[in-house]
Amino acid sequence: MSQQEEPEDETGAPDDAVEELRQKRAEAELGGGEARIESQHEKGKMTARERIDFLVDDGTFNEVDPFVEHRSTNFGMEEKRFAGDAVVTGYGEVDGRKVFLFAHDFTVLGGSVGEVVADKICKVMDRAIENGVPVIGLNDSGGARIQEGVDSLVGFAKIFERNTKASGLIPQISAIMGPCAGGATYSPALTDFTFMVQDTSHMFITGPDVIETVTGEQVSKEELGGAGSHSTKSGVAHFSYPSEEEALENIRRLLSYLPANNMEDPPRVKPWDDPDREIPGVTDIVPSAPRKPYDMTKVIDAIVDEDSFFEVHGNWARNVVVGFSRMDGQSVGVVANQPRVSAGTLDIDAAEKAARFVRFCDSFNIPIVTLVDVPGFMPGTDQEHNGIIRRGAKLIYAYAEATVPLLSVVVRKAYGGAYIVMSSKFLGSDVNYAWPGSEMAVLGPRGAVNILYRNEIAEADDPDAKRQELMDEFRDEFANPYGPAKRGYLDDVIEPKETRKRLIQDLDLLQRKREDTPPKDHGNIPL
Ligand code: HXC
Repeated sequence: MSQQEEPEDETGAPDDAVEELRQKRAEAELGGGEARIESQHEKGKMTARERIDFLVDDGTFNEVDPFVEHRSTNFGMEEKRFAGDAVVTGYGEVDGRKVFLFAHDFTVLGGSVGEVVADKICKVMDRAIENGVPVIGLNDSGGARIQEGVDSLVGFAKIFERNTKASGLIPQISAIMGPCAGGATYSPALTDFTFMVQDTSHMFITGPDVIETVTGEQVSKEELGGAGSHSTKSGVAHFSYPSEEEALENIRRLLSYLPANNMEDPPRVKPWDDPDREIPGVTDIVPSAPRKPYDMTKVIDAIVDEDSFFEVHGNWARNVVVGFSRMDGQSVGVVANQPRVSAGTLDIDAAEKAARFVRFCDSFNIPIVTLVDVPGFMPGTDQEHNGIIRRGAKLIYAYAEATVPLLSVVVRKAYGGAYIVMSSKFLGSDVNYAWPGSEMAVLGPRGAVNILYRNEIAEADDPDAKRQELMDEFRDEFANPYGPAKRGYLDDVIEPKETRKRLIQDLDLLQRKREDTPPKDHGNIPL
């Protein structure tokens, strides 16, 4: 038989079989049907397949399990079978790099998660873990499928188990693009980053109706669990965007900083900014007066490769700034106090935000640059009673256990426990610098002299002048970088304009860093 001849087949001509396959695929691609697709569009939402097509590189998506159907016969479910059921799963590429995906299909039974939906999700998660490839979940679902009872709940448990197993092995990214309620919220919560879309996505454990029934409290679903609330108040959402398109574009951007798994280094892009570039203008941004506010993101922008800073959690716990960036094309995580918000003090939310970011970077071989300008921890009964001791400890734990390269620069001041917490030498930081004029002490000069010389100040003819004199003395003695530099707690005091160049040189050297830790199951971070 020549290669051109078609094989004989008793069951029918191959063309027919291919045609049948095409028809089945076309049916599967309609999900819950034209009317429901239209209704999805009317709500301002894309369908699961449209979202995937938008997210991945053109023509790279390969669907897995497009013909899987549920087996339930409860409550008339025989009549509600759809090829692929309520989730689209598969793999594709983002900027030429592989990703696994699942996208709930709201047009099929409200995207609800029954037994086979969960199995489809678990299959791609297992393959993502085995192959060391990031997994992205696009959530738009009514949650556990009511008709399938406990099988649906078991399905969620299987997903949670995969999320936990994957944590620290591969990056996991969630986008909420519709409802995400009840226990279903815990899958995104277990992943590394959660994106939300303004107005069309909602997350809550119990919805407004249940809340009103149980507690009498009235709240809209937007106020309760919209993108605004979760990106500013609860910290559940790391990113919030006005449209699905912007959310998906920024998932692509986030991925560009990340390695595919914990065994790989993050991708290094061709540098476009001079590594030796001096940044003389940076001193115009940071005022010398220690309590004057300024915007730390401008300092970050000056130091890192031009236009490379991608802020994470930008609207929550704004007294600390975290995000990804590039230095000479290499991915770095940046953690910095933000003097513009609450004077840059560390509080519970800031500590948790920074700790989680540090742990993510440490899991995925991303060096961390810390810029320090911190007056201390936030005082007050609210903070104490809500556990700033145990929750602030998370940040110490995160830095102290990190084995990636850690570099820090004190740009203006670092007082008290916050000096130690922010990537100090003895928590394991590799490179510690300070700018001239910066201050490191147990307390700021004012607080220190008020405690040490309370009586002298009160009894002085001119208490204000006396306080100032004592503060000047204190500043000369303690509040400068040369005390710590003499002890080797700082590796050097550097000129601000050299900061970028020095950090890039150190990052280059630290690529070779190897640090062994004794084997253990896992530590017990204060939670
Ligand atoms: C089965 C569901 C469903 C569900 C929605 N549908 N949620 N089917 N199980 N959980 C179906 C609807 O019956 C409807 O089918 C179709 O999906 C579209 O739903 P609508 O209600 O018409 O859409 P909308 O008005 O946009 O409202 C969406 C919604 C609402 C807010 C998600 O459907 C809703 O409140 N659903 C229930 C949410 C919930 O309580 N889920 C359980 C959470 S607890 P038809 O055929 O009529 O069009 C949970 C536990 C996890 O998930 C446990 C983990 C440990």
